[in-house]
Amino acid sequence: MKEIKLRMFFDAHCHLRTERILSNMIPFIAVYASKVIVMPNTRPRAILTGDDVIWYRNEIQKALRGNKMPFEPLMTIEIRDNTTPQTVEEAKKAGVVAGKAYPLGVTTNSDEGLRDFFSGEITDTFQAMEDIGMLLLIHGELDGEKILVTEREKNFIPVLVKLSERFPKLKIVFEHVSTKFGVYMVEQLGENVAATITVHHLCLTLNDVIGYGIKPHNACMPIPKTFEDRDALIEAATSGNPKFFLGSDSAPHFRNKKECFVGACGIFSAPVVPALLAEIFEKEGRFNRLEAFTSANAAKFYGQPLSEEKITLVKKDWVVIEEIDGIVPFMARQKLYWEQVL
Ligand code: DOR
Ligand code: ZN
Repeated sequence: MKEIKLRMFFDAHCHLRTERILSNMIPFIAVYASKVIVMPNTRPRAILTGDDVIWYRNEIQKALRGNKMPFEPLMTIEIRDNTTPQTVEEAKKAGVVAGKAYPLGVTTNSDEGLRDFFSGEITDTFQAMEDIGMLLLIHGELDGEKILVTEREKNFIPVLVKLSERFPKLKIVFEHVSTKFGVYMVEQLGENVAATITVHHLCLTLNDVIGYGIKPHNACMPIPKTFEDRDALIEAATSGNPKFFLGSDSAPHFRNKKECFVGACGIFSAPVVPALLAEIFEKEGRFNRLEAFTSANAAKFYGQPLSEEKITLVKKDWVVIEEIDGIVPFMARQKLYWEQVL
C-alpha cells in the first residue's frame, strides 16, 4: 500500500472554541498538528488580554488531558479599537505570539472588530507589536456600501499594502487568502507579509456553496470564489513559496447553528485536513512540497522549531462520517482517498 510520512503539522489558523466543542473536537486536530495558532474569537469570553490568554490556555490544556502526541497551542489576542500598546506588551508576557484583527462585521464573532486600521491609537498598537516582535494576523476582508461579499477581499487589499509599507518589520499574515489577486499581492509585498491557505478554499468554489442547492456546511468567510481563484490558491500552496502555509481555519459550529434562518459561517475541516492535502498535492504531482506547506513554512515565519514527530498516511478509500457530536465535518458523506493511520 502507498504510504507517506510527514512531520506533524503547524496549523497556523484554528478555532478551538470552548466547553463541549473544545473538549470533543480538539482530538481531531491533535492527531495531525503539534503546533496550532489558536484564534481568539471565542464567546461569551473573547480573548483580549494576557489574563484571558492564561484562562484560555488552561481550558485548552484541560481539554487535552490524555492526549499522547505533542500539542502546543500558540495563543493570540483580538486586536480591537481599544487595544493599547500596554495590552499587547502584557499579552506578550503571557506568551502571546500574535494579535488578530477582524475588520468590523465581516465574519463570525467580528461584531466588535476594528473600525479603522489607521487611527492614531491603533497605529501606536501596531508599532508596539512591531517593536516586541508580535505578529499581526488579519482577516483580510472589508465590507462597504455596494461591496458584494465576493469583493470584500479585493476591497481590503489597499489596507494590507499600506500596513505592510508603514510597518516593514511587522510580520503580517493575510489569513485564508481566497483570490488570485490576493495571492499575487502577497507575492509582491515584502518579506514581512505571508498568507495562510485553508484546505476548503483549495477544494471549493462558489458553486459548491450555492450553485447546486444551498450547502450550509460549505459556507465560510471568505466565501469560496471562482475556478481561477481556486487554481491560483492550489498553485500557491503547492509552489513551495515560503510565504504560503497551511491555516486550516477549522471552525466547528453545531449543526443547528448552520442549518437555520441565518446560518453561521465556518467549516469544521479538522477530520479531513491531512487526507485532502495528500490528495491535492498528489494530483498536482507535488508531494515533495507538502511538508513545506504543512510544517516548515509556518514554523519559519513564526520563528518556531520544526516538529520532530511524524504522522503516517496511507492510500485507502474511506467515507467521511455525517456528524460528530452535533457537528457536520467538511466533506461529510464523501469518499476520500488517503487516510491517516492512528
Ligand atoms: O468561516 C469562518 N468561520 N471564517 C472566519 O473568519 C471565522 C470562522 C469562525 O469563527 O467560525
Ligand atoms: Zn478563522
